[in-house]
Amino acid sequence: MGNSLKNKNIVIGVTGSIACYKVLDLIKRLKKLNSTVYVIMTESATKLVSVSDFENVADDVKVHLFDPNFNYKDYIKKNRPIKHISFADVADLFLICPATANVIAKIANGISDDLLTSSILATLAPVVICPAMNVKMWNNPLTQENVAKLRKLGYIFVEPEYGDLACGYKGIGRLANLDKISNRITTIINKKNSLKNKKILVTAGATIEEIDPVRVITNKSSGKMGVYIAEEAFLRGADVTLVRGANAIEPKFPIRDIKVSSAEELFNEIKKNIKDKDIMIHAAAVSDFEVNNKRDEKIKSGQELHLELTPTTKILENIKILEKQSFSGRRKSKTFSSEIKKNIFLVGFKAEYNVSEKVLVERAYNLLKDANADLMIANDVGKKGRGFDVETNEVFIVDKNRKVKHLDLADKKIIASKVLDEIKIR
Ligand SMILES: Cc1cc2nc3c(=O)[nH]c(=O)nc-3n(C[C@H](O)[C@H](O)[C@H](O)COP(=O)(O)O)c2cc1C
Repeated sequence: MGNSLKNKNIVIGVTGSIACYKVLDLIKRLKKLNSTVYVIMTESATKLVSVSDFENVADDVKVHLFDPNFNYKDYIKKNRPIKHISFADVADLFLICPATANVIAKIANGISDDLLTSSILATLAPVVICPAMNVKMWNNPLTQENVAKLRKLGYIFVEPEYGDLACGYKGIGRLANLDKISNRITTIINKKNSLKNKKILVTAGATIEEIDPVRVITNKSSGKMGVYIAEEAFLRGADVTLVRGANAIEPKFPIRDIKVSSAEELFNEIKKNIKDKDIMIHAAAVSDFEVNNKRDEKIKSGQELHLELTPTTKILENIKILEKQSFSGRRKSKTFSSEIKKNIFLVGFKAEYNVSEKVLVERAYNLLKDANADLMIANDVGKKGRGFDVETNEVFIVDKNRKVKHLDLADKKIIASKVLDEIKIR
């Protein structure tokens, strides 16, 4: 693997910053690593460096969204797809370098009024943004707000650096060092393939147990953690199946997506889908109880009601039981209709409420042992900004050797990526 970018397509959006010319050198470096480099220039960029300079170093250069020869009659007759955003589809990585304050603002607001911004809106590739601008433009709260918004959505930034700026000012705004940008590209592309050919089952969100046809028992899980893990696994090349609670957020990418309601339904879908999986990440917040005396009609209000609750099946603890039975020649588990792969990499989540770090880790480790899981992700949902229905989380990753890795409070998308970094399987 190393630094090679063989067979990789890198699309570079070049925008109207004075740092444009530096990208010519970056392209030469990327070509030396055997990648194919396509360039999209904005109109402003063409005023600063000529298209032909980029044509001399890149594999192809485009500027315009509209083909001057476009004729809708031809399109209808030939019934061929229009290739106006073809770079978006072939990109293994989309780099915007240098990125003006203007292009950052446009992307943050979903504007697609030229070839570059239309392609960015259409791509599923990771997008890496390298800003370069005057220090006041960079520090402007509007720019900072746009950067924060994009970061939250998973766009990656290579921060501008401090130094002398072309405009005569000194401060933060210089395009990052080209070595730094090139290293970031190779790291991201290699990571992107880290789960290639792996089949992964992810569960997410809250389950719902009916009391009667209108009332339910559920929990506050939004499903964000699990859905972000599924999305990140998809971006890393995995074949992803997501089983999520009906109220969990929608996944952004076209991944196999199964909606369930009760804990029983969730378990049934796991049984149906686990057969060929290499990895299972069980992030769903499963109800611990189901209603025993569930009613078929709406229960009248204004009267005392006693619910009888029975515990639901502990899903995590049941996954490896099947594996053992499947490979020891014993009768198949009653709970599973299909065998599962030997050594499925099993990741569980453990949520606790307002406990010490020691207790949190201890309980996570005990569950890891009970379930024979490979990793447990422990979080304290009683602490502000962590756990259910928020955008951020702080977790402790506990492994089989009781080794603990602490991931400080961060956006759940970042936590999702770091959790996947810990999955090391051949
Ligand atoms: C000589 C020159 C240098 C510029 N350098 C920058 C820059 O470094 N960063 C920036 O954000 N804008 C810079 N601008 C302003 C942008 O070119 C302008 O905002 C333009 O609308 C950007 O269009 P684009 O984002 O479509 O490329 C520069 C303008 C000129 C005339």
